Amino acid sequence: MKKYIVAPSVLSANYLILKDELMAIKAAGAQWIHFDVMDGDFVPNLTFGPKILADITNYSDLFLDCHLMVKIKNDSVENYLMPFIQAGSSAITLHYEALTPSQLTEFLTLRAKLKLKIGLAIKPATPIDLLISHLNSLDLVLIMTVEPGFGGQAFIGTAASKIKTLRNYLDQNKMQTLIEVDGGINAETAKVCKQYGVDVLVAGSYLFGHADLATRVKELMTDESK
Ligand code: DX5
Ligand code: ZN
Repeated sequence: MKKYIVAPSVLSANYLILKDELMAIKAAGAQWIHFDVMDGDFVPNLTFGPKILADITNYSDLFLDCHLMVKIKNDSVENYLMPFIQAGSSAITLHYEALTPSQLTEFLTLRAKLKLKIGLAIKPATPIDLLISHLNSLDLVLIMTVEPGFGGQAFIGTAASKIKTLRNYLDQNKMQTLIEVDGGINAETAKVCKQYGVDVLVAGSYLFGHADLATRVKELMTDESK
């Protein structure tokens, strides 16, 4: 039976009891923590930065999956990312749409230079083909299944179908890049993503604030059909 990586998104956690929330997702068997950084510019919302990230990584030993929905201005990509790396990110994902061509080139070089796991994210309207030539340099591709910016939105099925194209390409070329989905993931939409060939499922509002969080994590992690 195939096992999927589940990445609870702390965007939907209750920050007054964040430690309890982190304990609950670990006890449920989640392998990753998804950390959404928003800048109020690339997306119309603001979240958190390296200080909260460091507090989380000092407490938790789970893989810290950092999803940056930001534009990087007047600075090198490396300088911008350094506080997030020092705060304990396990992987850093930037949006393809937010990067200038030279920033994209610099970001891809940081994988070897800093021994960092890196990913590129794409919004629902961005074609997957644009990432194909970069796959050799990527540890993961994050396919957004909602418009980035807020938790609790409905899953966009047409965006999810990009998983299929990418899965076929990766399999044909024997590549290990992980396929991650983010937005509107619940029991039903996860099933669709699993059929298409996803590896990592991000989920926020479906998990936090629910008494049966552990059952929900376990259900996302497994797939009875495989
Ligand atoms: C949205 C964020 C997501 C968000 C998902 O821009 O990237 O990680 O937390 O939330 P749900 O699972 O509620 O759609
Ligand atoms: Zn995210």
